[in-house]
Amino acid sequence: MKSNNRNYKIAVIPGDGTGPEVIREALKVLDTVSKKNGFKLELTHFDFGGERYLKTGKVLTDKEAAGLKKFDAILLGAVGHPDVKPGILEKGLLLKIRFDLEQYINLRPVKLYPGVWTPLRDKGPDEIDFVVVRENNEGLYVGEGKFINKGKKNEIAIQVSRNTRKGVERCVRYAFEFTRKRNKRKKLMLCAKTNVLTYAHDLWWRVFNEVAKEYPDVQTDYAHVDATCMWMVKNPEWFDVIVTDNMFGDIITDLGAMIQGGMGIAAGGNLNPEGVSMFEPIGGSAPKYTGKNVINPLAAICAGGMMLDSLGESESAAQVENAVMTITKNKLKSLSAGKMGYGTDEVGNLVVGALA
Ligand code: IPM
Ligand code: MN
Repeated sequence: MKSNNRNYKIAVIPGDGTGPEVIREALKVLDTVSKKNGFKLELTHFDFGGERYLKTGKVLTDKEAAGLKKFDAILLGAVGHPDVKPGILEKGLLLKIRFDLEQYINLRPVKLYPGVWTPLRDKGPDEIDFVVVRENNEGLYVGEGKFINKGKKNEIAIQVSRNTRKGVERCVRYAFEFTRKRNKRKKLMLCAKTNVLTYAHDLWWRVFNEVAKEYPDVQTDYAHVDATCMWMVKNPEWFDVIVTDNMFGDIITDLGAMIQGGMGIAAGGNLNPEGVSMFEPIGGSAPKYTGKNVINPLAAICAGGMMLDSLGESESAAQVENAVMTITKNKLKSLSAGKMGYGTDEVGNLVVGALA
């Protein structure tokens, strides 16, 4: 059962590589802010990830995935191990949780914090502040397809993009609701490729315009995905909220992460608004930095902040974000691993200090 009384059950999956290091710092910050504001986080750690897979051959069983539904939220570190073939952990752990728990939204804020270097010259925190709402359960990620004549000269590989009206509509609807509440701008843009994906994105286009009728206060817009990339670099200030499909969302949010200062700061939420959501720094497991105390924990700390917001502790979420901004503005030399001017643990301590 879900907890109440501001006592939240959290599943913690530190995962692989630098995941455990950044999660440790995120938990430090969460512990501080929960004590300060009088709520409780009851943590349960899980060892899912590459190490366990290499030892036991298990990634995540159906039963284990179902067990995660008992929690109020999940905090994930990183997935990916150099000795495990690419795809096994990504599919078996990360995507399995997203799919089994019907986390149908991937929410990715792209916000440049003060003091953070962006590769976009002449753009600052006033210009880079938008959110991508990525569909998280369908599209090209469903893993449907086949080979015909595999290995032969006349081989054909087919990969299906599956888009259901239900799946598209709940995503688009979430995006409209989110845009309405986010701030006064109330601008929602659909990013797709209606000129080429004449089935999949025709559905997206129709659903987007149908749902838009229920939100006359939200200004709507459309751009093809290629043009979206262009504008994200040239005029990021044009964006308030972008809604898009799974694959395009994957790609444009990495571009988003770069303009907001890199993987060191980029956090995301895999949301089931009616169920259990999972929060993660969006960067990988960074094996080469593992155990060196050089990786930036701010993305994981921000993911923790997003988790608090989803639990209804929005005041605490804002405090965490403000503390992170104080540190990016006044302390860190860079957000890159090894160049911050502080160790991973020290950055966590700085955020804790800023909270006090
Ligand atoms: C992300 C990641 C995942 C994705 C990978 C690890 C499967 O890149 O969260 O964006 O493609 O969704
Ligand atoms: Mn990605």
